[in-house]
Amino acid sequence: MGYLNTSAPAFAGLSGRCVQEFFASLPTPCYVIDEAKLEENGACLAGLAQRTGCRILLAQKAFSNYDFYPLLSGYLAGTEASGLFEARLGKERMGGKEVHVFCAAYREEEFDELLSYADHIVFNSPRQLRKFGRKAKEAGKSLGLRINPECSTQEGHAIYDPCAPGSRLGTTRRVWDREMDEGLLSLLDGLHFHTLCEQDADALAQTLQAVEEKFGGLLPQMQWLNMGGGHHITRPGYDISLLERSIRYAQDRWGVQVYLEPGEAVALNAGYLVSRVLDIVENSGIRTAVLDASAACHMPDVLEMPYQPPIYQASTDTAQGDCFRLAGPTCLAGDVIGDYAFPHPLQEGDLVVFGDMAIYTTCKNNTFNGMPLPDIWRMDMQGELSRLTSFGYADFMGRLGG
Ligand SMILES: Cc1ncc(COP(=O)(O)O)c(C=O)c1O
Repeated sequence: MGYLNTSAPAFAGLSGRCVQEFFASLPTPCYVIDEAKLEENGACLAGLAQRTGCRILLAQKAFSNYDFYPLLSGYLAGTEASGLFEARLGKERMGGKEVHVFCAAYREEEFDELLSYADHIVFNSPRQLRKFGRKAKEAGKSLGLRINPECSTQEGHAIYDPCAPGSRLGTTRRVWDREMDEGLLSLLDGLHFHTLCEQDADALAQTLQAVEEKFGGLLPQMQWLNMGGGHHITRPGYDISLLERSIRYAQDRWGVQVYLEPGEAVALNAGYLVSRVLDIVENSGIRTAVLDASAACHMPDVLEMPYQPPIYQASTDTAQGDCFRLAGPTCLAGDVIGDYAFPHPLQEGDLVVFGDMAIYTTCKNNTFNGMPLPDIWRMDMQGELSRLTSFGYADFMGRLGG
């Protein structure tokens, strides 16, 4: 049956457990990070790095639960940061490994501190390179410029497409020709592009062609090429051999050190959000289970992407069993997670376990409606559960005033 998805990739780490018993003692809602699955992903990425010579960084915007950095540091070359705080976290917690930063625009008053954490600094525009490049170079940093190859490989997701028309992300060839000069070029050690989102290696191969057409003449002058994130490398069925060929192509053609900075692929399918049914309501024949977890607060990508997350032992094919709409307890009418079929009718108090909840969740949640932040738990290699953090009223209040 479709709803018995206990061996689906998102739940492989639970290996068919009875979650009602396994998670019974956890306070809900809470996130559970699956250490064994993280290690499996880490080993996959380390194998890729070993076979090709590329260097792989954790994009912390997707996953920054630093209690797991000691584990990941054994597999990765370092971290990628979107700004000052992530750069500091990477520097302090990822065991002295490389710290790379990309931000669409740096702030003057933060830049000196940023220099104390970062090894690589990637600028978004020739203007930012002109403003900060000399200082960063004198501080001994390796500098890059993010390019925009203007090659969209995803449709219908403009919000996640840095190559969408009018995008602010990356320097197009036209802007390069208008604004770069010899002095600025001499500051650069590498180029960076990030154009993908949850994609396979064919999209990278296509993008690499566009990069070659537009910027290929400049690459032999560079020491490194950072191919960004969005590579779904650890997803079952991902074409890893095409990725390897693409990496080798860049290395051979331009003599560059290749970097990848995936976020999702590092922690894919390595977390669960455990929630409970608080009430069941009915309107126009639709039964809605109101949970203690909220899409808007605890899994915002469900509404932003949007997507429907997998649930342990439930199917999105609503013809398959007892159908319920799952929704959060907030005031937002659209705080709806989706419609699911369960093998038996849901009841107040039942546990509902969402899969693939390590990425873009704990680093993106919020306390809208005064919702408490879910605690974060570790599921260790032996399957033992232990609490890493707990949150309360002070965390809600502390963000609102003093
Ligand atoms: C510059 C950059 N690098 C890396 C990533 C990580 O992407 P993903 O988590 O999809 O692999 C992102 C995501 O937006 C990004 O903007």
